[in-house]
Amino acid sequence: MGDLEVQNTTLDSKQASTLRPESDALVFFCNGKKVVDHHVQPELTVLAYLRTKLRLTGSKLGCGEGGCGACTVMVSRYSPQDKTISHLAVNACLAPICSVHGMAVTTVEGLGSTKTRLHPVQERLAKAHGSQCGFCTPGIVMSMYALLRNSPEPTIEEIESAFEGNLCRCTGYRPILQGYKTFTKDGCCGGNKANCCMNNLPNGLEEGVSTQLFDPSEFAPYDASQEPIFPPELLVAAGKAKLTIQKFVGDRVIWLRPATLQQLLELKANHKQAKMVVGNTEVGVEVKYKHQEHPIIIDASHVPDLTVIEPTPSGVKVGASVSLTSLNEFSQKLIQEEPEYKTRVFAAIVEMLKWFAGHQIRNVACIGGNIATGSPISDLNPLFMAAVCSLELKSTTGTRTVVMDSKFFTGYRKNIIGPDEVILNIHIPFTSQNEYFCGYKQAPRRVDDIAIVNAGMRVVMKPGINVVEDCTLAFGGMAATTVLAMKTMNNIKGRTWSDGLVDSMCPLLAEDLPLPPGAPGGMETYRQSLTLSFFFKFYLVVLEQINQTQPGLSGSSVSSSLKTANQPFSKNPARGVQMYQEVPSGQPETDAVGRPVTHLSALKQATGEAKYCDDIPHVDGELYLALVLSQKAHAKILSVDASVAIATEGVHAYVDINDVPGQNMLGSSPVYDDMFFADNEVTCVGQVIGVIVADDQAIAQRAARLVKVDYEELPAIITVEQAVEQNSFFPLVRRIKRGNVEEGFENSDHILEGDVRSGAQEHFYMETYTTLIIPGEDGEVEVISSTQSPTKTQTTVAKALGVPSNKVVSKVKRLGGGFGGKESRNCIQAGVCAVAANKVNRPVRLMLDRREDMMVTGTRHPYLSHYKVGFSKEGQLKALQVNLYSNSGCTYDWSHSVLEKTLFHIDNCYNFHNVEATGHLCRTNLASNTAFRGFGGPQGMIIGETILSEIAIKLALDPLQLRVMNIYKEGEKTHYSQELKNWYMDRCWKQCVTSSDYANRRRDVDQFNSESRWKKRGLALTPTKFGVSFAVKFLNQAGALVHIYMDGSVLIAHGGTEMGQGLHTKMIQVASRTLKIPYEKIHISETSTTTVPNTSPTAASYSSDLNGMAVKDACEILLNRLEPFMLEDPKGTWEKWVDAAYYQRVSLSTTGFFKASHQHFDWETSLGNPYNYFVYGVAVSEVEIDCLTGDHQVLRTDIVIDVGDSLNPAVDIGQIEGAFVQGYGMFVMEDYRVTPGGHLLTSGPGFYKIPGFDDIPAEFNVSLLTRAPNPFAICSSKAVGEPPLFLAASIYFAIKDAIVSAREDEGIKEVFRLDCPATAERIRMACQDKFTKQFPAPEPGTYRPFFVRP
Ligand SMILES: Cc1cc2nc3c(=O)[nH]c(=O)nc-3n(C[C@H](O)[C@H](O)[C@H](O)COP(=O)(O)OP(=O)(O)OC[C@H]3O[C@@H](n4cnc5c(N)ncnc54)[C@H](O)[C@@H]3O)c2cc1C
Ligand code: FES
Ligand code: FES
Repeated sequence: MGDLEVQNTTLDSKQASTLRPESDALVFFCNGKKVVDHHVQPELTVLAYLRTKLRLTGSKLGCGEGGCGACTVMVSRYSPQDKTISHLAVNACLAPICSVHGMAVTTVEGLGSTKTRLHPVQERLAKAHGSQCGFCTPGIVMSMYALLRNSPEPTIEEIESAFEGNLCRCTGYRPILQGYKTFTKDGCCGGNKANCCMNNLPNGLEEGVSTQLFDPSEFAPYDASQEPIFPPELLVAAGKAKLTIQKFVGDRVIWLRPATLQQLLELKANHKQAKMVVGNTEVGVEVKYKHQEHPIIIDASHVPDLTVIEPTPSGVKVGASVSLTSLNEFSQKLIQEEPEYKTRVFAAIVEMLKWFAGHQIRNVACIGGNIATGSPISDLNPLFMAAVCSLELKSTTGTRTVVMDSKFFTGYRKNIIGPDEVILNIHIPFTSQNEYFCGYKQAPRRVDDIAIVNAGMRVVMKPGINVVEDCTLAFGGMAATTVLAMKTMNNIKGRTWSDGLVDSMCPLLAEDLPLPPGAPGGMETYRQSLTLSFFFKFYLVVLEQINQTQPGLSGSSVSSSLKTANQPFSKNPARGVQMYQEVPSGQPETDAVGRPVTHLSALKQATGEAKYCDDIPHVDGELYLALVLSQKAHAKILSVDASVAIATEGVHAYVDINDVPGQNMLGSSPVYDDMFFADNEVTCVGQVIGVIVADDQAIAQRAARLVKVDYEELPAIITVEQAVEQNSFFPLVRRIKRGNVEEGFENSDHILEGDVRSGAQEHFYMETYTTLIIPGEDGEVEVISSTQSPTKTQTTVAKALGVPSNKVVSKVKRLGGGFGGKESRNCIQAGVCAVAANKVNRPVRLMLDRREDMMVTGTRHPYLSHYKVGFSKEGQLKALQVNLYSNSGCTYDWSHSVLEKTLFHIDNCYNFHNVEATGHLCRTNLASNTAFRGFGGPQGMIIGETILSEIAIKLALDPLQLRVMNIYKEGEKTHYSQELKNWYMDRCWKQCVTSSDYANRRRDVDQFNSESRWKKRGLALTPTKFGVSFAVKFLNQAGALVHIYMDGSVLIAHGGTEMGQGLHTKMIQVASRTLKIPYEKIHISETSTTTVPNTSPTAASYSSDLNGMAVKDACEILLNRLEPFMLEDPKGTWEKWVDAAYYQRVSLSTTGFFKASHQHFDWETSLGNPYNYFVYGVAVSEVEIDCLTGDHQVLRTDIVIDVGDSLNPAVDIGQIEGAFVQGYGMFVMEDYRVTPGGHLLTSGPGFYKIPGFDDIPAEFNVSLLTRAPNPFAICSSKAVGEPPLFLAASIYFAIKDAIVSAREDEGIKEVFRLDCPATAERIRMACQDKFTKQFPAPEPGTYRPFFVRP
């Protein structure tokens, strides 16, 4: 909501000279070791200090803004006042290093290691398969560890809550929760028993089927008494601490920590420009992303007067520095001890804090910081204003008490607190018996998200009657400040709390809380509707309370169908069952294929030992690179002035197009239209204009901001709609035709037309793109990067430098997630970095900031499609005509291949008989959109499924029956004429319908809906058919290199990269089977272009198939060479045979190669098959929605999927659950928005919400179809990375089903459009009712919207 201006305050030289000489030494303990720093730089965060100074790289940088939890560490501190030690999970990326003075920091390295002893939190997460790419893993380990230090035998609710501030993009969360459930009192058998707490199988198990993916009996027991004690030295020091100001004086920043209130007030009075901080959760983000500079910082967290909580006769005084966690704990205790009526405000605070950030933030963020910041979407301020709280403000000149009323906030993030004043405390009053209080918040994601609208509501009834005596209604998210609805508050006094009240107050509320079209924040009509919805909920809740506490007083009662409006979603602890076929009883022990082998890096990931690109120690002479990015969507570059930047101390060079020794253009076939550096014109925000190379990241980034670019703006196109209107297309159109659509339409009883829109999706891999370029001799370059395409990176760098590829080595150890986002766009950054390294002739490193990464790397392609479908009155499909428009961004990238995949998938699983589908690529001024898990497939399948769902609404048919009627049969041909062989869909379908108990639950859902007006449930079954192979023929090849060493150990290299999907683990399993040796003898070190050349990107879910065959090929060659020695000594061992072969001078190294043999699809002739085979799956999901707010909860999902003979059921189930949750993000949650000028608004985890722990289906069951070997791939397996993603559309369609019921209650029966993602806004606005009707949508084109969806 608006930006703060950048403050460039400088240190007052007089103040600086008096303060500088007196610096104290920073002292803290880290993992049991004392750290003393006599010249600390206070602007460093704990994370930067750990990673760069202490070289502890286990804690990761995922976002730098407290939103992902990858950096979580535990801070232990001793309070001399109450003589307690507390252990707090904290975001190291926001905690300033000086804030831990006198404390003990524990990082993931401090718990255990694979070399010494694993800590149970590390072991259990890894062995329960809770780590895939592992980038989130250290943070998750530390959140769990901090919980155990406070609660050694936690409840499952405590465990689920502990991860509110942690995100994982890979796992789908379930395995993490299951692994950690073993710490609860009742433990968990890991699915070992039929009545496992995570599942309850009513009918037992099919023969040879298992539900156990790990064995908890292997786990080391947890003994809390063995945990390290708080360092005694710090304990003693805290007891003896003098009440003096601690000073830490750095080169740019001075940190002052007063010990008394008087010291704090004097510092405030003497240093008016100084910034006061407590938790630094607000200030830290402003410094990082709004580039504020604060030369003097006053840390108010250790002033005793500000940290006390004191009950008074009329309420409670809470010190301003009291953390939100302490406020929560105190309030919960108070609620237990005091009568219910007195603590209604505290109950609302406790409820609100559940949704306020995560533990890491609440543990340090203070109450005064929230008030003083005055964010219009603060969660606490509406409660405090509604409760009529007062603040004690103090300065050296006196104390005053102010009420938090309509005069307290004076403008956007402004209030009446004077510059020398501090908030001493807030007084929160008790409520009286006739006084009712509630808080409301609606956010895009329920947990750890900022509000769209929030509210605090209080009403006081006249004694003995239900007539309003007083009322305060405070709203956040409706203006530049938290506001009171004054007209409503005045008018409601004297009114009876009964029927008709809401209707008469709604127009007043609408007047109090106006939002003109284009208002900051957007979603105007939704936000206005929410205010009425909240008031209606408050009305009902008060009415119910009156009815309960004073029966007979109220004239109205709350009918049962209305009661659900205020009931929280039913949310049981996560549970689920994962079923897979065990290996056949005769399979040799050494053969690892088909077994749930743990991801081979998981333990290293859980201990922080696994090395990612940015964990590589600095090489000698290394410099850092920062990007100078276009700030315009489309403009001519008039001039670039880098002189001030270059003159900055520590800057080595400004690099741009003039420094490219090779080619500046790159791209993929068919068109080379991408550039490393902009050439006189920019075509999107975020395009690289130049780069700054400097001593370190901070200097480089500061200098990059000093480069001045003058532009002449040109017209920009952002959305698909604008591109269509302005005819802005790439000149490539794809069309598929089958049969005769015109005839099909003529033979149809009905024709339906509609639009389907699916949005952009950000990859949000946890590790942002990173690269390290090391120039060598003779034009050689080593490129270490987090890329899915080592070869493309190699060739791109070679092109940029004008050297042959044999001079460039491109290497990857592992990636912290990729999902398609590190397949091509990242190569530009590698090229840019290589040009810079070439210019300065020194190693150069780049790790994109999260917000930069999101700005420059493109997204999943948004689509707008128009369909026309013909069908019989029974629902039989006859013909389909579709026009697809993909928002490709400013260059081709992979857009044409993505479009082809979309066209191939529009049918999903249904036979439309006559089809004409045409795809267009819209050229827009957005960062080029690119590959993303599913590669256009999900965008196609959602069209087919939407059409089916809309026909069902139109004909009022059972959606399931309609689908059964139209689903393909074995041997039928798709609209591109590929025959469907091994059609396991029927089996998946039947099994899923049965195991999900679809029929009974359909009845239950209908019953629930008939009895509930404002909460609705929905149920949907969604199938998927996903084609496997690379669309481009030449990519369907792979190579491998296998060495057997003299000691019998085996080293494999193949062309695929490990990004969490378990590819290396699977390849080792394949080699284990082929060589007939235990997998422990086999190792994969990295992917490098020196070992396997000309590799295809690790993409299309096809890497196991391709690389697996290449590994098998190499292993078979070697086994053939060893065979004579085996025959000669049949009782010998592997080592002996290898030894003998070596001495006989037999080569124990070879390459392997594979190319897929299926026919390729030819667009010219429409002949051939685009896919080698298909993966089939079915999901049934059930949801509950809140029709008043648009909120929802996924109650249950059942998946049955055919992945052939699974190579590794644990890895495959992990992929299925992870893809499903990512798909849930695509279809329901992840809302990508830009300004009309093309600037990304939803940048960083603060604004862009991916699913969290709380969002997964409360019950989540996954079954791998048994006895379904795939004849077309390695070891009869099937691809698994992408196919399950679309199954998450079952949640979207379940939501749509629930909305249908809400609309029916209002008498609306027509087909309606629900765009993806089905956000809370879209759900609410589709549930039309008397509240939404008060705010008709403004006419598009009559105003400038705050944001657009591309
Ligand atoms: C990931 C994340 C999630 C968040 N989620 C939410 C959320 O859900 N809801 C929400 O409302 N907020 C949220 N916030 C915002 C923030 O956490 C809160 O506003 C928090 O309460 C600020 O407290 P702090 O101690 O960290 O403040 P700091 O950053 O230390 O200080 C913030 C401001 O308050 C001033 N200040 C602090 N104490 C006093 C005092 N005693 N007197 C005068 N001025 C004072 C400081 O000078 C500074 O200007 C979130 C922030 C992050 C990073
Ligand atoms: S890196 Fe700290 S929360 Fe994301
Ligand atoms: S394993 Fe969690 S982000 Fe990859």
